[in-house]
Amino acid sequence: MKIVFATNNAHKLAEVSAVLGSEYELVTLREVGITEDIPETGATLDENASIKAHYVYERTGLNCFADDTGLEVEALGGAPGVHSARYATDGHDFEANNRKLLHELEGKSNRKARFRTVISLIVDGVERQVEGIVEGKIATSEAGAEGFGYDPLFIPDDYDRTFAEMSAEEKNTISHRGRAVAKLVKLLHEIETKY
Ligand code: IMP
Repeated sequence: MKIVFATNNAHKLAEVSAVLGSEYELVTLREVGITEDIPETGATLDENASIKAHYVYERTGLNCFADDTGLEVEALGGAPGVHSARYATDGHDFEANNRKLLHELEGKSNRKARFRTVISLIVDGVERQVEGIVEGKIATSEAGAEGFGYDPLFIPDDYDRTFAEMSAEEKNTISHRGRAVAKLVKLLHEIETKY
């Protein structure tokens, strides 16, 4: 099955195609002629994933999926959440985001947090959503050089290392995105057996 993944992020594409396997031919936004940034105007991760998937489906008529991810920190009422990419600044400034997060949590003993990824899949016009969650906590200082984003600050439950101290392979087996993609694969197989 040919399926559009609503991303131009090579890192995400490689990660997802490795899990999906060769039965699925993943196509990027650029390959279907969508070069503009898709507006992420939703108030939640679920809404943004849905908006992005519909944007692609309406323009191409092709089966597609889109993802949206956020870090939800309990003591901050779920922030940065849907604003994770632009927490500190208007751009994707990971360093500034991490500094802001540490600052906001200064003096707080509750450091519980989770990463949540929502994927919206549209096949033959029908939308379905899956989510992947990894629970953990925010460290008191950054550690590790792997990964990206909030990885140097996020310690998953049952581990004493941050995501940035893990190999990509180790992170993928427990991560929010890894879990969401595993559910996506299951869903695609279920849909295919119906045809
Ligand atoms: P996106 O929806 O996948 O683009 O993610 C939004 C933002 O969440 C990113 O810009 C990162 O700041 C953060 N983020 C998403 N996934 C991860 C991850 O696996 N590790 C650390 N930060 C992440």
